[in-house]
This record gives sequence, C-alpha cells and structure tokens, in this order.
Amino acid sequence: MKLLDLLRHSRPRERSTTSTQLANSAIALDHSPRIDDACQYDEATRLANLYGSDKGNFHLGKHFYTRVYSEYFEPIRLQQLKVLEVGLLHISDSGWDDPSKRDIGQAIGRRAPSLEMWSQYFPNSQIVGFDINEFQDLHIDRCTVVRGDMGNRNDLRKLADFGPFDIIVEDASHASHHQQIALGYLFSHLVRGGTYWIEDLNYQPPSLEVPGAVKTKDLLVNLEQGRPLGSEYILANEALNLEATVASVEFYDSLETGARRNRDNLAVLTKK
Ligand SMILES: C[S@@+](CC[C@H](N)C(=O)[O-])C[C@H]1O[C@@H](n2cnc3c(N)ncnc32)[C@H](O)[C@@H]1O
Repeated sequence: MKLLDLLRHSRPRERSTTSTQLANSAIALDHSPRIDDACQYDEATRLANLYGSDKGNFHLGKHFYTRVYSEYFEPIRLQQLKVLEVGLLHISDSGWDDPSKRDIGQAIGRRAPSLEMWSQYFPNSQIVGFDINEFQDLHIDRCTVVRGDMGNRNDLRKLADFGPFDIIVEDASHASHHQQIALGYLFSHLVRGGTYWIEDLNYQPPSLEVPGAVKTKDLLVNLEQGRPLGSEYILANEALNLEATVASVEFYDSLETGARRNRDNLAVLTKK
C-alpha cells in the first residue's frame, strides 16, 4: 500500500465542535494526517489551490476549509444549486493583512479564486459573488457578480432576486458587525436544508472592527444554546427568524499555521 493510501485509510472522520464542546477547551480535535492526502484527491482542495483561494492548503499553511466543504458538498455537487459567495478578491490582491494596502471599494477585481473554484466544483449550478469592489470585466462560467457592501442592507437586497440560495459562504470583511448584518439579512434567503458558512471567526481586522461589538462566534454560541443573540446589528425580526429556523451550528478549525489562528474559525449554520 502506498503512503498516501495509508494516510487516507488512517484518517479519522473529523468531528465538528458544538458550542458545548467549544466551551470545553479540553476537547481536542484530531486532524492528523490531513494535508498531503487531501491535496492529492480532494477536488475542492485541488481547485482552491489551483486558483489561489486560502480555503485550500496551498503552501501547506492555509485554512484548509475545503476538507469540511468536501464532506458537505460532495454528495450534492452535481445538482443544480444556487451558490453565493460574499468576498471575492484574491488575498494577495486585496492586501488583506495590511490595512494600509487594503482596497475597500477601490480595487478592480481581475480574478476571483473562490468563484473560479465553485464554478468548476459545482458544474450545474448558478454561482453569485458579492463584493464591495468592482469586478465588471470578470467572466466565469455561470457566475454573476453583484457589487455592494455587506454592511448595508440596501446593497444586500440586490441579491434577493438571485436566491433563494442552497449555499451561502461569507468570507468578506470579517468585521463582527458586517458578519452579523449579512447573516441577519441573508439567512432568510437560504433554502430549507441549506447551509450558511462564515469563515475566519477568530480574526477581525482592527481597522474595521467596531469596539464593543459582540463577536460573531459568541453570538453563534448564544444562538445554538437558545440564549438571546446579544447583537445590535441583527434586527428583531431577523433574530426571530434565526431562532426559529436554525437547525444546527457547528464549528471547524482553520488549519492555517502561524500566529493568531486558532480553533473554530469556520462555522456552518444549517437551516431547518
Ligand atoms: C479574504 S478576501 C476573499 C477571499 C476569497 N473568498 C477566496 O476564498 O479566495 C475578502 C474580500 O472581502 C471583500 N470585502 C471587504 N469588505 C467588504 C464589505 N464591506 N462588503 C463586501 N465585500 C467586502 C474584499 O473586497 C475582498 O474581496
């Protein structure tokens, strides 16, 4: 048996973290071995790496969220779905980790790794992208890009005619209030049984974060445990909708190596 086969057969199926487990930091998830094997035969990871989305594991140090997306999406990827991704620029184009270089509404997007990736991964689906920057010259099969600010409900409303969506992936500003405005508005535009994903819960850019805003991770734990959400950025009717229609909330690690990243960087909410 080749080494890769050995790795594949020895890999335990990953468990998500519920809020109860999250509160108990003594519970450790076992991700070993993980990077080299999925890189060889996991289609979502291959495509993320090919186009340069940090959802994959290129340079062996990125989030590797694709291992989770694969588990959820492989059984449905040939269906005719509607998929929305919020936040599109290639990370090096946006100067993402350097606020002095970050382009908030000033950039012309010439590539959108996650749209390229989803377009190929879901060959029968309609893909919609949403971003504060301009992407007018970008042409990807079955993809439409809508320009807008995720922190502005009037802009988010432009997405209503494209839904309801089967899958929504939110990977944009990562500021808590933005995450919460988008979640509050967009969750009602998800089909029953659909999934809403929020990436990078553990990192809020200091230049965008509003002091005192509840962290979205804490809000999601509240939601899962039936407590008040505690966010001033989610409207009363949106909070009622979330409380009534969220079937489950699960958390998965980012496997990015380096400084600040930690557990539970990816959350998925499934709709009843
Ligand atoms: C990390 S990049 C997206 C990476 C991409 N999803 C991928 O997997 O390769 C973050 C994106 O969020 C966008 N963005 C930042 N603030 C935003 C806002 N307020 N509304 C909408 N998009 C925003 C940026 O323009 C940038 O394209």
